[in-house]
Amino acid sequence: MSRWLSETGGTSGEEYAARFAALAASGRDLHGEAGYVDALVPPGSRVLDAGCGTGRVASELARRGHVVTGVDNDASMLAVARQDPAVTWVSADLAALDLQDRFDLVVMAGNVIVFVEPGTEQPVVDRLAAHLVPGGLLVSGWRTDRLALSAYEPLVSALEPVARHATWDADPWRDDADWCVAVDRSAPAGA
Ligand SMILES: C[S@@+](CC[C@H](N)C(=O)[O-])C[C@H]1O[C@@H](n2cnc3c(N)ncnc32)[C@H](O)[C@@H]1O
Repeated sequence: MSRWLSETGGTSGEEYAARFAALAASGRDLHGEAGYVDALVPPGSRVLDAGCGTGRVASELARRGHVVTGVDNDASMLAVARQDPAVTWVSADLAALDLQDRFDLVVMAGNVIVFVEPGTEQPVVDRLAAHLVPGGLLVSGWRTDRLALSAYEPLVSALEPVARHATWDADPWRDDADWCVAVDRSAPAGA
């Protein structure tokens, strides 16, 4: 079972959505992740939101013109996400993902890598990398007190590092940063 399901009991969708709705109502910009991703790929790109939760990132990427699929295995989170018909929603475990499809970019926003089932981090990264087109990008953002960058690097060693940032605003990486955003590229065609 994912850390997320064991910590939340799989009933947190409405509460999670309400928390972000309250933040939005208070004037907070909640689209840092979508803005970061949007800047990495051309308009109309095929994007997979892995661990999409209630769909807040996937829906914003679709609104910005990308062709988006969201995957999660928490039914309560997906129930909220499915209210947006602009995204293709899939219920699946990332560690065994096989969509028979390829994407220009795969994003794990909001700590997904630290919420997968313990011990499945490598299969999750490998399955997501397998869903990239040649030269496609894997983007992940997480709290470094739950997973050090030095522990993430081996997970993506089959990919080419593109960027390491300290925030979704692309602040430069620092060793004492409490957040990391990592971008890695799959091998180009013919490599
Ligand atoms: C903190 S939430 C982030 C949700 C969303 N990405 C966001 O930023 O709002 C983490 C999500 O990862 C999902 N998740 C964790 N492990 C998963 C797995 N093995 N397969 C599918 N989804 C998973 C959880 O169900 C949860 O919805």
